Amino acid sequence: MFRLSGFAFALALLSAVGLTVLSQPAAAADEPANVIKYRKQVMVANAAHITNIFSVLKGETSNAGHIAANARAIADGAAMIPDIFPAGSGIGDTAALPSIWQDWPKFEAAAKALQTAAMDLAAAGDSGDMAAIGAAAGGVGKACGGCHEPFRKKK
Ligand code: HEC
Repeated sequence: MFRLSGFAFALALLSAVGLTVLSQPAAAADEPANVIKYRKQVMVANAAHITNIFSVLKGETSNAGHIAANARAIADGAAMIPDIFPAGSGIGDTAALPSIWQDWPKFEAAAKALQTAAMDLAAAGDSGDMAAIGAAAGGVGKACGGCHEPFRKKK
């Protein structure tokens, strides 16, 4: 009887703790290390989407119908870029250069350029014209490099 109620108590405690955690999801939100972790995830997701597109272009998969969706995901990711580089987030385990915040309008323009290039690729993907898709995919690659070159530390 005691054991059962002890178990019931432990369960109640566990669910209370669980609820507390759920009701306070912001406890570690936007801590400096998490800001950097999250933005790297967004970048890695961008890279995965462009890799998916190149898998079609290289003939590794016949899913040409997925190109536009991958391109739209890159455009959505590009729209997140200004949010994921808040002022002061250039310190820590990051390759972000101070030039980002010193030249913010140029950085924002580089994010916008990626968004535009990705939307062009989505349109090409919808058209199914493989030559246009190839050209637009090259444009997306250039937009990635167009920001990494001035704003990311060299490896
Ligand atoms: C407007 C600027 C900008 C654009 C556009 C951009 N990036 Fe980045 N990217 C960065 C910066 C700055 C970093 C370094 C982030 C850090 O270390 O905190 C980065 C980091 C990365 C990383 C390394 C992530 C890690 O785990 O360290 C990858 C991969 C990446 N970008 C891929 C891409 C791809 C692919 C594209 C195009 C589809 C792209 N990026 C477009 C600015 C940009």
